[in-house]
Amino acid sequence: MTTVVNDDQWWKTASIYQIYPKSFCDSGSKGTGDIQGIISKLDYLKLLGVDAIWLTPVYASPMIDNGYDISDYYAINPDFGTMADFDLLLDQAHQRGIRIIMDIVVNHTSTEHQWFQSALGDKNSPYRDYYIWKDPVDGGVPNNWQSKFGGSAWELDEQTGQYFLHLFAKEQADLNWENSKVRAEVKEVISFWAEKGVDGFRLDVINLISKQQDFPNDDIGDGRRFYTDGPRVHEYLQEISEAVFQKYGSVTVGEMSSTTLEHCQQYSSLDNKELSMVFNFHHLKVDYPNGEKWTKAPFDFLQLKQIFNHWQTGLNGKGWGALFWCNHDQPRVVSRLGDDQQYRVESAKMLGASVHMMQGTPYIYQGEEIGMTNPGYTSIEQYRDVESTNMYDIMVKQQGVSHDEMMAILAQKSRDNSRTPMQWNDQAYAGFSKGQPWLEVASNYPEINAEQAVDDSNSVFYFYQKLIQLRKEIEVITTGTYEDLYPEHESIFGYERKSETQTLICLNNYYGVETECVLPQGFDTSKANYVLGNYSDLSGSVSQHQVLRPYETRIILLNTMLLDN
Ligand code: GLC
Repeated sequence: MTTVVNDDQWWKTASIYQIYPKSFCDSGSKGTGDIQGIISKLDYLKLLGVDAIWLTPVYASPMIDNGYDISDYYAINPDFGTMADFDLLLDQAHQRGIRIIMDIVVNHTSTEHQWFQSALGDKNSPYRDYYIWKDPVDGGVPNNWQSKFGGSAWELDEQTGQYFLHLFAKEQADLNWENSKVRAEVKEVISFWAEKGVDGFRLDVINLISKQQDFPNDDIGDGRRFYTDGPRVHEYLQEISEAVFQKYGSVTVGEMSSTTLEHCQQYSSLDNKELSMVFNFHHLKVDYPNGEKWTKAPFDFLQLKQIFNHWQTGLNGKGWGALFWCNHDQPRVVSRLGDDQQYRVESAKMLGASVHMMQGTPYIYQGEEIGMTNPGYTSIEQYRDVESTNMYDIMVKQQGVSHDEMMAILAQKSRDNSRTPMQWNDQAYAGFSKGQPWLEVASNYPEINAEQAVDDSNSVFYFYQKLIQLRKEIEVITTGTYEDLYPEHESIFGYERKSETQTLICLNNYYGVETECVLPQGFDTSKANYVLGNYSDLSGSVSQHQVLRPYETRIILLNTMLLDN
C-alpha cells in the first residue's frame, strides 16, 4: 500500500534543519550563539534548501540543561536576544519560505519557574499541585525510580518533608498533568507562540507526561515502564491537539523516549488526532550493548537494518516518522557509524542517503550537512553537559571506573560531541564567535567548515542539497513501500521503495572495503538510471551485479510509468 499525501501535509516532502542556538552562531563576542546569529545564516539555509527550522529552546532558563529547563515560557532568554529579535527571525525566515518549529518542553519546568518557586516549601500554594509530591517511604525516597541523568528521580523539599519528582536533572521538576490547570497552562503557552505565527512544535519527551498514579517501585528496572507511553498520554495529546494544533494547523513532532511502534502508530495516526509525526531512538541504540549507553561498543549493523525495517514497514500507511541520525543529544554520525578520517566525505554522504531515501521527514542537525565530527576531547574539563559530568561523577567516583576508561566512553557517547560550535570558516573560533566559545571548537575546523563546503561542488553540503531536492522531485520517496533487500548482508544496507509508478533502490556500503550484491531479479536494469552517488565516476547503465567501493552509496530509479507509455 502506498501512502497518500494531502495538500496541507507540506511536511511530508519537506526537510527540516535543527538549530541548537547556543552553538550555531554568535553575532558578537559572548561565546554563545544568539538569534541575530541565526538570522545572519538564513541565506546559507536557503541555499541548502531546507523547508523549516526546528529551534531548540530559546526561552528564559537558568540553562542547567541548556534551555530544556524553562523558567518562563513567554520570554526569550537574554543570552539569545529579545522578543523583537525573535519576531525578526520569524519574519526573515518566512520571507525566505522557511518555516519555524519551536521546541516545547512541558514534561517539566525549571525549578526556577515561578510556579515551582511558589510551590516549594508551601503545601498550600495554589501551584503545589502543578508538580508531583510524595511523602517519604521508610524515611527515604518514595520509590526507586532513576533520573535519566543518573541518581534518584526524587529530591527532598526540606521545609515540607515531601519529595518532588524529576525524571531529568534535579533542577527540572516534572509537571503534574493530572491537574487540568497544568493542561490549561500548556494550551495557553502553545497558543501564544502559534498566535505569533510559529508554524509548528517539537514536543520534548512528550510520551513521559502521564505517570502511573500509584508510583510503584520497579523491581526489574529504573521505573520507566510506569511512565513511558503512560496511561493517559493519548488522551492528553488529543486534548492539546484539538484545542491548539488543529486550530492553528501546526505541524507537530513528538520526541518519544523508549517507545513502541504501536504507540507511535497512534501518536502519528494519519487522522491527525494527536501529532503529525514522531521521533523514536531505537536505531540509535545499536551501540548500546544490552541497553547500556555508558560503555564503549561498536554498532550492530544487522540490528540497525532490522530496526529500520520494523519502523519503515510498521508506519507505512499508519503513521509518520522523523528520519534522522543526529541531534543535540547524539554523537556525530560520521564518527559513530562512518569513518571520520580517510572516508569522512564518502561516509557522511552515504549515511545521509541511507536515511533520506526512506519514508518520513528528514531532520538535519546543524553541521551534519558539512560532515562535522566528534571533537575527541581528552580532558573532563572540556565537557559542559550535565548528563556527562553527572555520569563522570557516578562512574568514576562511586563505581570505580578508571578516569581513562570514562574519558574514552565520553569521547564516544557524550552529548557534547554534537554541541561543539558550528564550524563556519577557518578563522579564529571557526568563525562561530569573536570571543572564546562556551564549548571548545573541534580542532579540525580549518579543513571542515561551511565556507569550504560551499566553495566545493563535491562537498557533503551539495550532496545534502541534492537529497533535499530529490524528495521533492521523486514521489516514491514519500509514498512508496519499503523492503529490505539484503537483511543478512554483512556490509550492504540496500532497500527498495515502490509505488504504482516508480521503483527506487538505495544501496549503501557501511564499511571501508569493497563489497558486492545482486539487484532483485524482477528489477529491469536496462530501463533504470543512477540518480545520485558519492563517487564522481558513477554513470552509464545500471548492472544487475553491483560492486560498491568503500562507503559507497548509489541511488537507482526505475520509472515504470514511462515504460508503459
Ligand atoms: C530531551 C532533550 C534533551 C533534554 C531532555 C530533558 O531528550 O532533547 O536535550 O535534556 O529532553 O528535557
